[in-house]
Amino acid sequence: MAEIVAGVATSHVPAIGVAIDQGRTDEPYWRPLFAGFEKSRRWIADLKPDVAIVVYNDHATAFSLEIIPTFALGCATEFPPADEGWGARPVPVVKGHPELAWHIAQSLVLDEFDITIVNKMDVDHGLTVPLSLMFGQPEAWPCPVIPLAVNVVQYPPPTGNRCLNLGRALRRAVGSFGRDLRVVVFGTGGMSHQLQAQRAGLINREFDNRFLDLIANDPETAAAIPHVDYLREAGSEGIELVMWLVMRGALSPHVREVHRHYHVPASNTAVGHIILESEREASA
Ligand code: DHB
Ligand code: FE
Repeated sequence: MAEIVAGVATSHVPAIGVAIDQGRTDEPYWRPLFAGFEKSRRWIADLKPDVAIVVYNDHATAFSLEIIPTFALGCATEFPPADEGWGARPVPVVKGHPELAWHIAQSLVLDEFDITIVNKMDVDHGLTVPLSLMFGQPEAWPCPVIPLAVNVVQYPPPTGNRCLNLGRALRRAVGSFGRDLRVVVFGTGGMSHQLQAQRAGLINREFDNRFLDLIANDPETAAAIPHVDYLREAGSEGIELVMWLVMRGALSPHVREVHRHYHVPASNTAVGHIILESEREASA
């Protein structure tokens, strides 16, 4: 049986990708940020997941304002890195896992959790930066990746509770796939940041660190945070944090915290990162 063995949450700030691509990770500005991912890289190299499901948001790259799916699952065989205005990042093409993705699509829809099926999609920094943070700069990504895009760009985004429940449905879906696969789920985005208007540059360390505690130990309380609280406390782009709840819902109710990192700033953003392992006996 396939099994979701662990979850990784991390911010996906595009400037982090630029720093990696341009070989600037040792610069004084960036060193403390990347130092917090060294253990993570060793951890995932040891874990050797068979598949990664990456929950991320498209930043009006693949989806324009013409079509805005709330949840979109990538079922294609590959997903090229997107040109976000200055050429595509020099990272490998993301190889999908159509067999598992189609199984997940069927399971979710029959579980009454309708999602959009995507057969062609370029993936932007929301997906590629977390892969770079965790896997470095390989010739090819070490495992197939299933993108799961969540709309947090155009109001109304899904609630945190809906995202937690999507994660639980994802766990049921993966658990009913009849091949032995060890799957890791990424939740990306956040933490507090606001890129626009009077409060641009907003950072809220207290909110972020409480959220890190809740995502590990009390996801139901995190799932009850209303949109307006994300906006008020974590800035207009802090809503990206609802995607961490999909990751958390996909794990067992009790988890083991492997690693945590919090760093301010990267570009305009407070960077948060946490790794959680599922407890086998307590699976949903
Ligand atoms: C920044 C952060 C993001 O999450 C994003 O999607 C774009 C920019 C930033 O801090 O610059
Ligand atoms: Fe973003």
